[in-house]
Amino acid sequence: MTTIQTLLESRLSEALGAPAQVSATADARFGDYQTNVAMVQAKAQRANPRKIAAELIERINVADFCEPLEIAGAGFINFRLKPEFVAQRTLALLGDAQLGVPKAEKPQKIVIDFSSPNVAKPMHVGHIRSTILGDTLARIARFLGHEVITDNHVGDWGTQFGKVIYGWKHFRDDAALEADPIHELVRLYKEANALCDSNPAILAECREELVKLQAGDPENLGIWKNTVALSWKEFEAMYNLLDIRFDEHLGESFYNDDLGPLVDRLLSSGIAEVSEGAVCIFFRDLPALADKPALIRKSDGGFLYATTDLATIEYRIKRWHADAIWYVVGAPQALHFEQIFAATRRIGLEANLKHIPFGSILGEDRKLMKTRSGENVGLRDVLEEARTRALKIVAEKNPGLPEAEQQEIARVIGIGAVKYAELSQFRMSDYVFSWDKMLSFQGNTAPYLQNAYVRIQSIFRKLEGKFTPPSALTLSEPAEWALAKKLLAFGETVPETLGDFRPNLLANYLFELANTFHSFYEACPVLKSEGAVRESRLALCELTARVLRSGLGLLGIETTERM
Ligand code: ARG
Repeated sequence: MTTIQTLLESRLSEALGAPAQVSATADARFGDYQTNVAMVQAKAQRANPRKIAAELIERINVADFCEPLEIAGAGFINFRLKPEFVAQRTLALLGDAQLGVPKAEKPQKIVIDFSSPNVAKPMHVGHIRSTILGDTLARIARFLGHEVITDNHVGDWGTQFGKVIYGWKHFRDDAALEADPIHELVRLYKEANALCDSNPAILAECREELVKLQAGDPENLGIWKNTVALSWKEFEAMYNLLDIRFDEHLGESFYNDDLGPLVDRLLSSGIAEVSEGAVCIFFRDLPALADKPALIRKSDGGFLYATTDLATIEYRIKRWHADAIWYVVGAPQALHFEQIFAATRRIGLEANLKHIPFGSILGEDRKLMKTRSGENVGLRDVLEEARTRALKIVAEKNPGLPEAEQQEIARVIGIGAVKYAELSQFRMSDYVFSWDKMLSFQGNTAPYLQNAYVRIQSIFRKLEGKFTPPSALTLSEPAEWALAKKLLAFGETVPETLGDFRPNLLANYLFELANTFHSFYEACPVLKSEGAVRESRLALCELTARVLRSGLGLLGIETTERM
């Protein structure tokens, strides 16, 4: 289904003989959509905008679905949809699995690189944002018809392994490793690290362990494999809890054998050069990067994060034929991505490369979120606490529900609340992590939206007989029109959300939809009404439930039938 906005834009472009944009109005007094093209043209031609608008509306052919066009203010053209058209489009949504969301005209093959935690290091709140945002972008892109490969670029190789292996050999606690592997691996790393600080001999031993690992020493390779497997077990438990899946998880180590040949190739083609014993790619022609070369081989022969990322890009473009690669990684890595994207272009590889950055999560004291002992807060702890807190709320609200059902509802509410707190914020802003706020049933929260869905389901439970979609909608109350129009806006909101990687646009839309539904429900009795009015109101309820469920689903948030 093409959206109404697209329909209007194509009719307007026909009249204008040039592409033109139409936007939804914020205020119903100005109709449903408006355009400022007359003002833009007037400026270019030094003419009177209202006069241009008046000439233009004679030529815009929308009488089949709009009321006579209006000119407002300095020269806006306002479009007001005909009620029959709104009713007919809304009815059509009932038969549309996409609920009015159009499929992309040119589907792309998109690799989304997100989550990407590090082995033997705890997954922290920065990874929470990447994991939740990346998963949502993948769901939305798929819904729009793109082919998506989600790839977890785990940090499973690096200098930390010298210390981890040293710790493993000298002070490993097998019981602790069994009980909480990541915690124990981090302890091994930290303890070795602390020893290195005070004892150069141990630092040298750790380096030796690393060199042996890199040279393929069987014992060290075995220990490394063990740490990777143990970490994966825990990552997977978390992804299961979050209902997040990856198509691929080619960690950094996957590219090890490609790094040497890649650097050699870049050197022989002149793209990279030797500088003070190291190998760098210079970007002297790019003002922003002129004094910021990318280091791809250290003077001791070691490779870097950037080297692996270049090998990864090459793999994704050559093997997977990616049209686009999106990196959902925190803002502090912006320079790194600028450099490797510039290097990729230098190599002559083509794909639409995007770094999708985000801000921090703050504690209620507005400082970076930390545990009481000053550590990064682990994602697993956050999710466990979300469930526990949600369970308390569910048990209070609904003491009669069987325990197992309370648990299940608590899972859906708790995880949903954490995800929604993330997704309802503009990703670049830092947000305060507040349990009370995110778990509240009032305000712009997941529980509020999930509860709106539950309320609609309870209407259908009270319904005698099954709901069958009517053959026409009979709408008369302003609250019914408002709800129908809000439902139609879903199809425009979802693509817009992906356009700028802003899931908060979809979240805010769902919040407005729930509010519009509540106003409708207060003004218009559903089950107590009769005949065609009742059927139409039930249809609006059904569609609202479907859009809420689908929209929350795109945000990776589940709904329940009761709560
Ligand atoms: N492991 C990295 C970190 O924790 C993130 C990796 C992001 N992806 C990439 N291709 N560089 O900071």
